[in-house]
Amino acid sequence: MDKIIINGGKPLKGKICISGAKNAALTLLPCALLTDEPLTLRNLPRLADVDSFGHLLNQLGVSTTVEGAKPDEMGRVMTLRARNIVSTVAPYDIVRKMRASILVLGPLLARAGEATVSLPGGCAIGMRPIDLHLKALEALGAEIEITSGYVRAKAPKGGLTGGTISFPQVSVGATENALMAAVLAKGTTVIENAAREPEITDLAKCLIAMGASIDGLRTDTLTVHGKEKLHGATYAVMADRIEAGSYACAALITGGSLELVGAHKETMPSILSGFVDAGGIVEDTKDGIAVRADGGIKALSVSTAPYPAFPTDMQAQFMSMLALAEGTSLLTETIFENRYMHVPELTRMGADIEVRGRAAIVRGVEKLHGAPVMATDLRASMSLILAGLAAEGTTEVSRIYHLDRGYERLEEKLQAVGADIERISDG
Ligand code: EPU
Repeated sequence: MDKIIINGGKPLKGKICISGAKNAALTLLPCALLTDEPLTLRNLPRLADVDSFGHLLNQLGVSTTVEGAKPDEMGRVMTLRARNIVSTVAPYDIVRKMRASILVLGPLLARAGEATVSLPGGCAIGMRPIDLHLKALEALGAEIEITSGYVRAKAPKGGLTGGTISFPQVSVGATENALMAAVLAKGTTVIENAAREPEITDLAKCLIAMGASIDGLRTDTLTVHGKEKLHGATYAVMADRIEAGSYACAALITGGSLELVGAHKETMPSILSGFVDAGGIVEDTKDGIAVRADGGIKALSVSTAPYPAFPTDMQAQFMSMLALAEGTSLLTETIFENRYMHVPELTRMGADIEVRGRAAIVRGVEKLHGAPVMATDLRASMSLILAGLAAEGTTEVSRIYHLDRGYERLEEKLQAVGADIERISDG
């Protein structure tokens, strides 16, 4: 298996182009199931999860063609066409590798009237049940049965009908499934306590481009007037706010200065306010934002919560940064019950972190030192890369397939701004 080797201690300087957002891409791809016309997605990141999603859609009967982007564009352009749905089954083998596969449930049910999707099970960061997805679809008339590890969902004879979905808890994925099902349901659907993540707004904008009628974008109440049919569209995936936030941390932790080309400041309010509280400086540029260190890192208290509050997907990266802050920080993880798997690895690099239930007390140290480390999920892996960039000596990060799922051309982007980082292929 490949490894990443980092010789730390080099301040990063220069420009990094921010890719299309993984978590937006993974909910825009299944929109192709909602129409028999072509859906062209621009600015798709080159990521393992995007490829896997493409393969899943191929099995369901969606054709995919990939073209190169225009010279001034990042990412890939994929045209997807679901002329006929040939299968309504998302098998265990695919779903267990990529939880986001659950996002075919709503669109398959809406377009084909049925869907059989493997239960994703837990993962490295928590139990991650899907009860909210299922309740939302039941509110639109779906009949759902769980047998032999599979969710088997059926729409009533005349198709799904609009209804009120009131989420007891905010869920990004359940809001996405509900929205994708509601656009083809008969009548009006009101989704209350909907997630407000920018990726949800991106999904709603793409569905609107396909002919859907959705009100309440960016709010926690989405009203959908169902349509009989959607049509094809061309849509560009939003910039990845978590990738941008991760590279902002790379600037501050190395005492450097980076321009994040294509980053959208308005999608990252709490990431940037946390960054500024930790001692960073953020400025607007013509093409994105510039982030830099202004002296040392300051301690802070931050708690993860649904958007617009601080994202759980930035908790691990901030923890690495705060490990080198002056003073003691308090991080609280409220979204996932097991998202501190990076702590023992950071501790091996010299960090002083104590986990008490959902809280992590991070006592700033003067230096981190390189070590062989590995992580069990994507953002935890990024936190180790950040720690390695700042540490004295050599850090060897293994299990980097996690990184390949969510950070496009990571080493290339970091090398271009002065990091001493390389990928060593094991075979
Ligand atoms: N939850 C339930 N029941 C459900 C659904 C969720 O109890 O039916 C719970 C979860 O267990 C969790 C909380 O609700 O405790 C929030 O989960 P949510 O459904 O919002 O998360 P998700 O849709 O599974 C997406 C991202 C995650 C990101 C979370 C939170 C994608 C593909 N994944 O997951 O991204 O952490 O929202 O913002 O969009 C990552 O990119 O590294 C990543 C894990």
